[in-house]
Amino acid sequence: MKALVLSGGTGSRLRPITYSMPKQLIPIAGKPVLRHVLENIRELGVMDIGIVTGARDRHITAALGDGSDLGVRLTYLPQEQPLGLAHCVALGREFLGAEDFVLYLGDNVLPEGVGALAAEFAARRPAAQLVVQKVADPRRFGVAELDAGGAVVRVTEKPDRPRSDLALVGVYFFTAAVHRAVAAIAPGPRGELEITDAVQWLITAGAEVRAGEYGGFWRDTGRVEDVLACNRRLLEGIRPAVAGTVDAASRLTGPVVVEAGARVTGSRIEGPALIGAGTVVEDSRIGPYTSLGRDCVLRRAGLEDSVTLDGVTIDRVGGLYGSLIGRAARIGPGDGRRRLVVGDDCRVEVAA
Ligand code: TTP
Repeated sequence: MKALVLSGGTGSRLRPITYSMPKQLIPIAGKPVLRHVLENIRELGVMDIGIVTGARDRHITAALGDGSDLGVRLTYLPQEQPLGLAHCVALGREFLGAEDFVLYLGDNVLPEGVGALAAEFAARRPAAQLVVQKVADPRRFGVAELDAGGAVVRVTEKPDRPRSDLALVGVYFFTAAVHRAVAAIAPGPRGELEITDAVQWLITAGAEVRAGEYGGFWRDTGRVEDVLACNRRLLEGIRPAVAGTVDAASRLTGPVVVEAGARVTGSRIEGPALIGAGTVVEDSRIGPYTSLGRDCVLRRAGLEDSVTLDGVTIDRVGGLYGSLIGRAARIGPGDGRRRLVVGDDCRVEVAA
């Protein structure tokens, strides 16, 4: 089996962060989403992985290289424009050859892994095996309708009136039968080649399409709230470890990781929390549920339920929560009045 990971797209809902980096590289609990994805795939015993990349492909190649540090082989497949998930399968046609494969959206977080579902697929080898999860509001998702025996009878993309509460998770197992379906479909109303249309084509052609329910935590990192939710969930699983220095005046509670070269003085860190390598935290209150990137400086700062990327400075500003702070951003009191230098599509919420 091979894998096709989708890491293109525009990431418009995560602007301004995605103006300068792909959303799949946003760190969740200290590691890019895409690394979590690749580790899940490696756990399936799949080593040959194609990665579809978009406009910011060089960031992804720089972060992952040839995959050898993860023990996998990566093949990059640049997509000029985000023309849809089924378009990505068409792009991967040559790389995939006649093999079965798992199609995995590069922004999906599934900490429990998909090993059981992969085993189910390998045992039965239907043309397609979807992964589904019950959701409260299926209208934002692809939706699957199943018969009593677990066969998928219909899939619909973002239906106004969903006929089931089973949303399609961003992981699909396919045999090479899907390539004929992808070649047969036309772009949908969004102008994209939809994977749901390819799956529906298989069902209509009489091919076997099945679904397996994933019961664990699942979220895609499409919006800031999702990034923070994934960060909370993955931080819950961290093992406390202090490789940097923590002075006697600081107090760490709950699981806290202080990476190498990080320095914590006079601060209270409430886990789960992660302090990135080389980061300085002085007289601050951090956490719970907070990941700081590398080489940040926080002085007399207060930050909880948040993610900062690398090189962030927060100076004498407390009470911050629910924040996603991009690389090298500087937050401080200035001359005491309110002054903003913010890029396009930023979101600033200050007490009135
Ligand atoms: P989306 O979440 O639809 O990604 P997006 O980047 O278009 O986000 P937004 O709506 O905020 O603009 O796509 C799911 C995943 O698939 C994501 O990892 C990006 C990837 N993708 C591709 O690689 N190529 C594509 O043509 C599309 C549509 C998505």
